Amino acid sequence: MARRAPSFICQSCGASYTRWQGKCDACGAWNSLAEETASAPSMPVPGARLGGRAKGRVFPLEGLTGSEAQAPRAASGIGELDRVTGGGFVEGSVILIGGDPGIGKSTLLIQACAALARAGHRIAYISGEEAIGQVRLRADRLGLTDAPVELASQTNVEDIVATLSQGPAPRLVVIDSIQTMWSGLVDAAPGTVTQVRGSAQTLIRFAKTTGTCVILVGHVTKDGQIAGPRVVEHMVDAVVSFEGDSGHHFRILRAVKNRFGPTDEIGVFEMTGSGLAEVPNPSALFLAGRDHAAPGAAVFAGMEGTRPLLVEFQALVAPTSLGTPRRAVVGWEQNRLAMVLAVLEAHGGLRLGMHDVYLSVAGGLKITEPAADLAAAAALVSSLAGRPLPPEVVFFGEIGLSGAVRPVAQAAQRLKEAAKLGFRRAVTPAAIREAGDASLALTGTAHIADLVANVAAG
Ligand code: TYD
Ligand code: MG
Repeated sequence: MARRAPSFICQSCGASYTRWQGKCDACGAWNSLAEETASAPSMPVPGARLGGRAKGRVFPLEGLTGSEAQAPRAASGIGELDRVTGGGFVEGSVILIGGDPGIGKSTLLIQACAALARAGHRIAYISGEEAIGQVRLRADRLGLTDAPVELASQTNVEDIVATLSQGPAPRLVVIDSIQTMWSGLVDAAPGTVTQVRGSAQTLIRFAKTTGTCVILVGHVTKDGQIAGPRVVEHMVDAVVSFEGDSGHHFRILRAVKNRFGPTDEIGVFEMTGSGLAEVPNPSALFLAGRDHAAPGAAVFAGMEGTRPLLVEFQALVAPTSLGTPRRAVVGWEQNRLAMVLAVLEAHGGLRLGMHDVYLSVAGGLKITEPAADLAAAAALVSSLAGRPLPPEVVFFGEIGLSGAVRPVAQAAQRLKEAAKLGFRRAVTPAAIREAGDASLALTGTAHIADLVANVAAG
């Protein structure tokens, strides 16, 4: 009989090796390999049927009936959550929600469970981390104890599936967290990649066969990866991250992957004494407490998905005392800052080689849009010149390597939001295709040099 070879599994990405080595070739993580006994590939359950259909049949694409074409969803009624999921939890789907410890994942999910349970659905919340008493205590604090949510404190997935299979299939099951789950069919210690993958497989199969929506909570490492089970990300229908800064009260829910909805929508919440509250108008929140007289602050009219979002870019450009000047950025991309600085030097006539440069997006938000280039550049120029920008101006536009300011999408919506919040002027790319009926005065900027000249002129 062939001896079963030991196998070393990377706890970060799930790659497997026959020998131990210090670095995982697949994901580059150091010291992440752990010895695990390879488990037999999971066999399909004999006679298993998906959605009640016979095995091995094919279906014509155009023959979908209305109910199949329109995935049935259960909306939680928490608007910011439903916006991110794409309108509610799809039947039979599996969602992985990741976030730092203490960010509020359990709080958000118990609130969602309570809302759906009150609407008459069968909802289960399985905690592998907290005892029933602790979950109940939190629900009590949130004023949710009247909601008929079924609570369980279990970590064995076979037991969980057996428990949930009694009675009608639940509409939603929350597993908090996937890293605490273990399956008796997998020969590995709990918390290892093999166990997490095995447990997730069992729970996913449960979701697909019963039509229950399963939410898996995943812990996140320092660099923002869902710890260990990156493999799980490929298996689930949606990956949602819950971000926020411990120093700030608001939290951002963002879909990273979504088979049933958009991935660029965000949901904004505020952590209050009585749980997470929706923030329907995040721009007002992000712009609160602005210092109008300070140089180096520029308001960016951005878009997050279909929603306009105004945030403040803050820059500090100061003479350096170091041989190599510092460049630090929070909430924006380091490479993008380097590019904007290079363009300002090459085409804007600025000399920044002897200056430290710090750039920060106020409020702890992360901006990834290229449209933010112009706002970042304006903040940098304003700080270097020591001149505050007029407080009633917003900026948006992408900067090319030639110094040209390029048009960006959805200008009309950005302008409309700025007008709504009391801004009166917008510095934009020269060619705006659709300005809408916004009541803002537009300053078209064709080249970065125009921006530098405008800021210098005040
Ligand atoms: P929690 O949901 O337990 O976080 P996670 O499951 O992501 O680890 O949230 C815990 C934090 O939220 C904790 O630091 C206290 C805070 N909190 C509030 O501020 N208000 C509340 O009503 C609740 C329930 C928690
Ligand atoms: Mg928790």
